[in-house]
Amino acid sequence: MVRGKFIVGSNYKMNGSQSSLLALVGLLNHAQLDSNVEIFISPPLVYIDLVRKNLRRDVAVGAQNCYLKATGAYTGEVAPEMLRDIGAEYVILGHTERREIFKESDTDVGLKVEQALQAGLRVIACVGEKLEEHQAEKTLEVLYRQLDAIADHVLDWSNLVVAYEPVWAIGTGRVATPEQAQRVHRAIREWLRSKKGDHVADQTRIIYGGSVNLSNAAMLANEEDIDGLFVGGASLKPEFVDICNVLQGSR
Ligand code: 13P
Repeated sequence: MVRGKFIVGSNYKMNGSQSSLLALVGLLNHAQLDSNVEIFISPPLVYIDLVRKNLRRDVAVGAQNCYLKATGAYTGEVAPEMLRDIGAEYVILGHTERREIFKESDTDVGLKVEQALQAGLRVIACVGEKLEEHQAEKTLEVLYRQLDAIADHVLDWSNLVVAYEPVWAIGTGRVATPEQAQRVHRAIREWLRSKKGDHVADQTRIIYGGSVNLSNAAMLANEEDIDGLFVGGASLKPEFVDICNVLQGSR
């Protein structure tokens, strides 16, 4: 595939403790994982170092956020460079929980993406529409606005992954159907083509998040424009290992 490996990523959100995360790390360390899949896990910030030191090297570690400046007087914030320093390779930016609960604007997300890419992190840039926007058929309008604010800050697209996470599917158990997700992923890819050209459109991986679990992973993974899965709740359970190996069933 021209787009590089299929990705399975996790977002533990604000969950876990040293012991529970080490148990998940142990599970992954002992599992047979598909070497054709790029895997990352994203523990809460304070546990990144612990997880990185104990986790097998072929699974990457990601952060769930970072600040939009490289250094300075920003009490309580964490610079992307610091994440690199403790071994994180990925950062999730623009997650709906950051946008909604912590009032991050499209502009903030764009600036964070720029700073994180400059620091050498791989960025999972999240976009997604809320239920009322979905029902009003404003999905693509919302996504294109969010994407515009991100695309302005990306020079090199090779380290950016787009995550489509419909807000109405996050933590609700209500997953987008494979056809729904495929349609939106295709629209995102065609948007990239019109704005950034064929190379960026064909190379950029677009992953789906929102109530992914073992029972729906394979159907989603089967769709042409779904280049990976982004897992919240189910990533805290042993089934995450099977989700990582989802492509093996379809070969
Ligand atoms: P759930 O899988 O719990 O719906 O969460 C998805 C998510 O927010 C990944 O970032």
